[in-house]
Amino acid sequence: MGGSNPQIPRIGLFDSGLGGLTVLREIYRQLPNESILYFGDTARLPYGNRTPGEIVQFMREIVGWMVPQGIKMAIVACNTSSALALETVRSEFDIPILGLILPGARAAVEQGRRIGVIATPATAASNAYRRAIQEIEAGALVWQVGCPEFVPLIEADRIRDPYTAEVAREYLAPLLMQQIDTLIYGCTHYPFLEPVIKEILPAEVNLVDPAAHVVAAAVKELEFAGIRETRPPLATRFCVSGSPEEFARRAVTWLGFTPTVEQVYLDSSEGLPVAKEPAS
Ligand code: DGL
Repeated sequence: MGGSNPQIPRIGLFDSGLGGLTVLREIYRQLPNESILYFGDTARLPYGNRTPGEIVQFMREIVGWMVPQGIKMAIVACNTSSALALETVRSEFDIPILGLILPGARAAVEQGRRIGVIATPATAASNAYRRAIQEIEAGALVWQVGCPEFVPLIEADRIRDPYTAEVAREYLAPLLMQQIDTLIYGCTHYPFLEPVIKEILPAEVNLVDPAAHVVAAAVKELEFAGIRETRPPLATRFCVSGSPEEFARRAVTWLGFTPTVEQVYLDSSEGLPVAKEPAS
């Protein structure tokens, strides 16, 4: 399989689809020498309506596939997986695996005490952000809103559709009523909606994108472990479980270049995940 290089280990990044690109762009900014393996589980998107058991299984398969591809660290570029699977799956692998919830919670309490979280229904129902925030700052108030329509609208390239603004107003209304001072993007897809969200929220509400903070945590972890890369990076390797053409077409807007995308099948039916070449 192309792309693995024993000399330059990569950082593995995964999401259900395009959302992880908001984490990838932070890596390009903060860790320009790192080589990345990006996996979008587009065949099983959206994750936000899945059961906790499915989310755990998907993460196991993905990290189980990534490790033999030659990664030195994994970043869960998906809040749903960070909220529902990270604690269970982390100890099953002997590489560092970083998630978004704790870095996002830490950043939020530095900004305010009335904190709104917009997230997938699964993340909101898990209470992961409230728990993490109140563990750091018991007096902080947290309101979590599940936003089931956002990911399908973003993946369908409908960010500027008036319907998306209408849905956003509906999701944000209960948070505006509580007069939040801080809003966490509790799903990595949502920073793509920033122009829409900024039109609705008062300018003084702080916006927290956990992507920036998980990458800052990765910088520290790599330095601490003495594995931060200084050599020039390999080209990012993009893999998806669904249509590579579709992913490339959508991702170009956010990446600024057309990625080469491979399709891999993660098949756990035999008990062990294996990546197979697609049938021609
Ligand atoms: N972008 C992911 C997240 O941060 C998953 C979205 C989805 O597939 O529902 O939660």
